[in-house]
Amino acid sequence: MDFARAIPGGRLPAMAEGTSINTVAVLGSGTMGAGIAQVCALAGCDVVLYDIDAALLDRALERIGKSLQKGVDKGKVAEAERDAALARIHTGVDLGAAASGADLVIEAVPEDLELKRRIFKEVAAAAPEALLGTNTSSLSITAIAADATRPERVIGMHFFNPVPVMKLLEVVVGQRTSAETTALARSFGERLGKEVVVVRDTPGFASSRLGICTAMEAIRMVEQEVASPADIDRAMVFGYGHPMGPLRLTDLVGLDVRMAIAEHLARTLDAPHFEPPALLQRMVAERKLGRKSGQGFYEWE
Ligand code: 3HC
Repeated sequence: MDFARAIPGGRLPAMAEGTSINTVAVLGSGTMGAGIAQVCALAGCDVVLYDIDAALLDRALERIGKSLQKGVDKGKVAEAERDAALARIHTGVDLGAAASGADLVIEAVPEDLELKRRIFKEVAAAAPEALLGTNTSSLSITAIAADATRPERVIGMHFFNPVPVMKLLEVVVGQRTSAETTALARSFGERLGKEVVVVRDTPGFASSRLGICTAMEAIRMVEQEVASPADIDRAMVFGYGHPMGPLRLTDLVGLDVRMAIAEHLARTLDAPHFEPPALLQRMVAERKLGRKSGQGFYEWE
């Protein structure tokens, strides 16, 4: 790993030199956890995917298999790579056992601060030397690390859905995260083939803060009948080169999910432009949640 590139000024931190990440424990086997396990296995790591229920793990393995096959069909993954990646992924329902022996633990459980704190406390004890990453998209890294021994090794590793396709890894540096931890997280992200941005632990980091800001403004524009949802989206797709517009993306992510993040940002940043517009509040109350409910700013099959 090229640590010199990861450290401003090119200085190598003593601990990081020669350190490599071979085994990764991924905690939580939902969409994000499964995607993270997949890219780590493709990068040559042994992966232990943990969840509380074996049936969830079976479903995750199935999803990973399908995604790897899609990668093969698209010509991005060789058949041998697919098979090797699948063989590197193991599953388990014992948290301590999954974490012990891991060089890196990446947590991707639901966005519940108390749950994440509890998990980090247990994992920090089970894997005293491991780097501890959290895939939180909105919670404070510093708060998640509060009960962990050696919080200097806790860092945000925010992936994007679908993980095997999206190029970004947002590395979020908590108040107590060390420079060595930051360097390791950055170089590991590069090894996964990601474009890495390093962001200070502030509400919404860089990606959610900007993404939610655009979405709330787009919804206000629908409210004010500036243009149709489709044309507002087309403005960003064809004028700015975004792969999809903010309203369509809100439908895909879920209106309830985006509203919760907007409320959190309005509160923590004390910024009225993050307040969810009345239209969004009404649509969420009416269960027009986007793709998952069949109706959002667009109709979905
Ligand atoms: N494995 C490897 N590569 C794959 C793959 C797979 N399983 N599936 C697709 N790909 C590759 C394709 O080969 C293609 O590569 P190319 O550009 O070099 O040809 C690329 O990925 C796009 O594939 P497709 O053209 O088949 O896919 P679509 O046209 O359906 O686009 C998408 C897919 C780019 C993911 C598009 O749906 C999109 O832009 N979605 C929005 C994604 C987004 O904004 N995500 C962020 C959500 S916010 C978030 O995640 C934050 C979190 O905290 C909630």
